[in-house]
Amino acid sequence: MSILDSAPAGSVRDLGRAEAGRARIGWAASYMPVLKQIHDRFELEKPLAGIRIGACLHVTTETANLMLALQAGGAEIALCASNPLSTQDDVAAALCEYGIATYAIKGEDNDTYYSHIESVIATKPQISMDDGCDLVTSIYTKHREQLAGMIGGCEETTTGIIRLHAMQRDGVLPYPVIAVNNALTKHMFDNRYGTGQSTLDGIIRATNILLAGRTLVVVGYGWCGRGVASRAKGHGANVIVTEIDPRKALEAAMDGFQVMSMAEAAKIGDIFVTVTGNYHVIREEHYKLMKDGAIVCNSGHFNDELDLDSIRAMAIRKLEPREFVEQYELQDGRMICILADGRLVNLAAAEGHPAAVMDMSFANQALATSYLVKQHKSLDKRVYDVPLEIDEEVARLKLASMGVDIDILTPEQVKYIASWSEGT
Ligand SMILES: NC(=O)c1ccc[n+]([C@@H]2O[C@H](COP(=O)([O-])OP(=O)(O)OC[C@H]3O[C@@H](n4cnc5c(N)ncnc54)[C@H](O)[C@@H]3O)[C@@H](O)[C@H]2O)c1
Repeated sequence: MSILDSAPAGSVRDLGRAEAGRARIGWAASYMPVLKQIHDRFELEKPLAGIRIGACLHVTTETANLMLALQAGGAEIALCASNPLSTQDDVAAALCEYGIATYAIKGEDNDTYYSHIESVIATKPQISMDDGCDLVTSIYTKHREQLAGMIGGCEETTTGIIRLHAMQRDGVLPYPVIAVNNALTKHMFDNRYGTGQSTLDGIIRATNILLAGRTLVVVGYGWCGRGVASRAKGHGANVIVTEIDPRKALEAAMDGFQVMSMAEAAKIGDIFVTVTGNYHVIREEHYKLMKDGAIVCNSGHFNDELDLDSIRAMAIRKLEPREFVEQYELQDGRMICILADGRLVNLAAAEGHPAAVMDMSFANQALATSYLVKQHKSLDKRVYDVPLEIDEEVARLKLASMGVDIDILTPEQVKYIASWSEGT
């Protein structure tokens, strides 16, 4: 089998891996009961009949289950990777066999990455499904002739939503987009528990280090940062948080973490994890202060959270002792390790979020897509939150799958919380 095996239905590393991919997709499905129910409903009702969807998502087992649910709903789908390192090649192969045109190869270079986005756009999608906004920006900047045929889009992650809001502010958002990340059933679980667990999984798989007793610096105490900090504490690490938002810094301090500036933390950290969605939050002035052996990684969307050019310029030598570990030797003999080329460590060095959280994220994606199909004529070119009914339905279905019952308001309680006249 050749290294790059192209099929009419996409571009993947090796179609021969499809069987392994199918088995792993099935395993993930068993932890995605909410998406399974939506899949079965879609199969009966075909809410996406004939709709072309272009998706740019991490090509993982969980994404595969979303693609299969959309396909069951009647959609025609083309999929490419939203990160050059996050593709699971066996899954990409299996998806091609399932009839989903998949353009994704783990480790693809930048040109291939963008050519795969172009391949998806060439299928003339009516709905874009992004994780980081690359499809929307590519369609807007390079394929305006296709905008007339677009119904809308969905966006998976915080960074993508920040970019979409910037487009809306500049008056160039080309169609309505639903901010899936803003659903509580997405970010409260996916960003916090998913990123928390899988980021540590990525660090451990890449390095096999013991976290207990080490000092781990979490840069950014948003949804992802809270998850990474709490999971690292659970492993026995001494957790330090750095922030720029005084409210989040206060929260971290009251959650029991040490909070300090990056200039201070840089001197004492053993492991650094950035989850800010911001630019160059670790840079030359910080590398200069770090201890010998410091491990630096990123779990935010883009690899520019770390200033990689400066560490490369500072280094006299680079070693690659393990997959996903680059050790830079500096003039004074200190070694600093960068994991996974500064890309999302949980997706590059591990498998991304566990299926049980992606169940909710992708249930939101599937239901938001069918909402777009039904409602797009009444929507403006704006960023919309996931409708509350969808968010609550996803939570209800998840609780039911876990066998958890909750209370319902009594008629008196309904009246009480709706009134202003009751007092002391
Ligand atoms: N690894 C994954 O699988 C995964 C999953 C979900 C989201 N993400 C990405 O992770 C990033 C963070 O997402 P989130 O939902 O936690 O966002 P968030 O907005 O909730 O949190 C980001 C935090 O970073 C802080 N911050 C910004 N600049 C900083 C700086 N220079 N130093 C310290 N703190 C700084 C902000 O004040 C904020 O509290 C985004 O890029 C998002 O797309 C990754």
